[in-house]
Amino acid sequence: MQYDRRKFMSFLGKAGVGIIFLPQFLSSCGIVNASNSKRTEVSKETLERLKKVTLKNLSPSNEDDLILTDNLEYSVLLKWGDRISGVDTFGFNNDFTCFIPLENNNLKDGLLWVNHEYVNPLFVSQFDFSKYETPLDYRTIEQVDKEMYNVGGTIVRVREEKGKWRIVQDDPYNRRITGKTPIKFNWDFPIAGKYAAIGTHSNCSGGITPWNTFLTCEENYQDQYGETEYDENNTARRVPSSYGWERFYDYPPEHYGWVVEIDPKDGTAQKHVALGRFSHECCTLIELEDERIVAYSGDDKSNEHLYKFVSSEPRSLKEGTLYVADIINGKWIALDWEKQVALKERFKDQTEVLIRAREAAKILGATELNRPEDIEIDPVTGNVFVSLTNNFGKGDYHGSILKIEEFNEMHDSLTFKGSTYIVGGEENGFSCPDNLAFDHSGNLWITSDMSGSAMNKEEKPYMAFKNNSLFVIPRYGKDAGKVIRVASAPRDAEFTGPWFSSDGETLFLSVQHPGEQTIDIQNPTSKWPFDMDGIPKPSVVAIKGDLLLKMNLLNKIEMSV
Ligand code: FEO
Ligand code: CA
Ligand code: CA
Ligand code: CA
Repeated sequence: MQYDRRKFMSFLGKAGVGIIFLPQFLSSCGIVNASNSKRTEVSKETLERLKKVTLKNLSPSNEDDLILTDNLEYSVLLKWGDRISGVDTFGFNNDFTCFIPLENNNLKDGLLWVNHEYVNPLFVSQFDFSKYETPLDYRTIEQVDKEMYNVGGTIVRVREEKGKWRIVQDDPYNRRITGKTPIKFNWDFPIAGKYAAIGTHSNCSGGITPWNTFLTCEENYQDQYGETEYDENNTARRVPSSYGWERFYDYPPEHYGWVVEIDPKDGTAQKHVALGRFSHECCTLIELEDERIVAYSGDDKSNEHLYKFVSSEPRSLKEGTLYVADIINGKWIALDWEKQVALKERFKDQTEVLIRAREAAKILGATELNRPEDIEIDPVTGNVFVSLTNNFGKGDYHGSILKIEEFNEMHDSLTFKGSTYIVGGEENGFSCPDNLAFDHSGNLWITSDMSGSAMNKEEKPYMAFKNNSLFVIPRYGKDAGKVIRVASAPRDAEFTGPWFSSDGETLFLSVQHPGEQTIDIQNPTSKWPFDMDGIPKPSVVAIKGDLLLKMNLLNKIEMSV
């Protein structure tokens, strides 16, 4: 069966993605609904200008600045602490970004969702962990409250005017979701005794649904309230967190580690138990012909797994089966308590299987992976790309990108072929792949996440790569298949959350944790984005320019760079 491009494109259309010029395979199948198609009028002069634009590979840099390759420029859209309404400010360490136009006939006015993953207490609550041998004994509730406010996410209306994106101050849609927002579970049974959780945090990457809501994923949840661990006798033990929030708010660890859906129109949220509990990096959805949903998600921890949920009901993230990948044998294994005897021996019911998905996956022989991060579906082939960022314990310092080819190109298939698409390392010019994004022409954009403590250090394997960067692998032209560095991040930062605007003319990008290695706040390791106060600030930038226009919008012959 042919990979169903019609369905895929219709999902993109519903998500408000305007197709300007399609890659040939798409435009040639005549699938573009005229009402979805937003063809940018490109004048002859513009076309001539774009034809001269070339793709230049940046050299690695250790400068404290956001450096872009030729024919790109950026503006800062939102910085940590910016006021978005009379009561709310933009949170810390922004990660996943996602834009939805409010109306399909105006792609330059819409809602931006931004994840706030975690805080650096030194900046956010002025608490210096390094000063104490037992820092958690010195924390105050006021500090923890500030930290809880600065995680979660932001919904903010943004508009492009005269070529520049700006937030719409005090727009009624503007709001924060924080570590204190009550969020119900989309499940019929209680989770650790409750039907709702307090707050979301560790919001790393995410996704978008075909019905235009945002998905924000709880990743390193154990850092805030700890974790419940089980020994071989199935006896539970509470492992304390590193931030010590549970000292003031003793919320169950089981309330975190989920995929959370946010309705951008009113901010209502729900945690999807059926998708399992682990360090969800992201959640990438595809809608099948009959409107059932397949949701891919990776567990970003060394030696953990890749999962997919397949719904049994149209557009449901509750009714269905969660599977985990056996990459060696190319099989999706059902985490189904009813059908798996080994799970019945260890867990009392399906709810417990989902809460302890990691253990269940290991019992059933899932393949251990080198920290699965972001997942994207290739719009041209339907193949699923998974960043495996690294695994020091197994000697994998530079990571790779895994390609999953589902049997018969069907995303609900129970068999697949897994192979390595590309490996990190000096030969390919990048290390530690993290976020992925396909643009409107099918070029693959990749961000790197070498840890701030290891970057630019002689004794570490990352010296040659210098600062974290944004790369693109062009699909066409003389550089097709090569990894080209197009942006270099400020000191200690990583780029996260690449998201193309619906007209394809802008790349929204998060700059997370600039100056993270700072010890003395008076003397930060980064000053980006160069505010008057000299304090580094995680920020979202909007990147524009002729290179983006050319690569993203022109058809494959015209866009060869
Ligand atoms: Fe928050 Fe796996 O990156
Ligand atoms: Ca990530
Ligand atoms: Ca992505
Ligand atoms: Ca990462």
